[in-house]
Amino acid sequence: MERHSSARPRIPLIAGNWKMYKTSAEGAAFIDDLAARVRGVTGRDIVVAPPFTGLAGAVRAAAGRGIQVAAQDVYWEDEGAFTGEVSPGMLTDLGVTCVIIGHSERRQIFGETDEDVRKKVHAALHHGLLPIMCVGETEAEREAGQTEEVLARQLAHGLVTLQSEDAGRMAVAYEPIWAIGTGKTATPEIAQQAIGFIRRQLAEGAGEAAAESVRILYGGSVRPDNIDELMAQPDIDGVLVGGASLKADSFARIVAFEAG
Ligand code: PGA
Repeated sequence: MERHSSARPRIPLIAGNWKMYKTSAEGAAFIDDLAARVRGVTGRDIVVAPPFTGLAGAVRAAAGRGIQVAAQDVYWEDEGAFTGEVSPGMLTDLGVTCVIIGHSERRQIFGETDEDVRKKVHAALHHGLLPIMCVGETEAEREAGQTEEVLARQLAHGLVTLQSEDAGRMAVAYEPIWAIGTGKTATPEIAQQAIGFIRRQLAEGAGEAAAESVRILYGGSVRPDNIDELMAQPDIDGVLVGGASLKADSFARIVAFEAG
């Protein structure tokens, strides 16, 4: 399978968030399968995010195969009495290169705040991990016409300490909460509109150059049958995939998107 992306300003990033699925052995077997399926697919970064217990096995399985491994969360301190937490240095020591931060499940189920997200993004950047910072509105907020206000708040808090030179080393994932795990994907137009807004906010906060270099992903019920139209949008630089990243055949098809 040989595919080349067209002249895009940013390298597309396709990330699979496994959430609390897959043992270490299952994750390694998945990576073997995926690597065989995407051999020859070029011009995109491929990332899988296993649970903490699967990170070491995933890094070993992914070595030399053009697949990077992300954690699903990180704490901001280097070490200390923080039972249950994992530091950025512990992740880089394993060979992990990226980390998802502020996923809506962490915000909603575990009470993560915009301030927690800011500290985690800052710590990840400081340790050379690529943060994938998640933002997105609830269904009620969208219906009340508050989408842009919510996104602006999450971005302003999360990235208040962002230096413009860091923008190329991070990604933002727009994940409308009403689209996550529901099968209700945002239309490509809705996703493009929100992501275009996010890029303009970044331009205001961190400058044009930063806004042009940050990769902005869409997440929420991405599937093999909607990936191509999503990736055809000018501001969508990749996707964060939950359910459809758990099977190697569907994730491989998403990785091998064709953007028209
Ligand atoms: P989904 O999850 O693809 O299953 O909707 C996306 C996510 O939570 O990142």
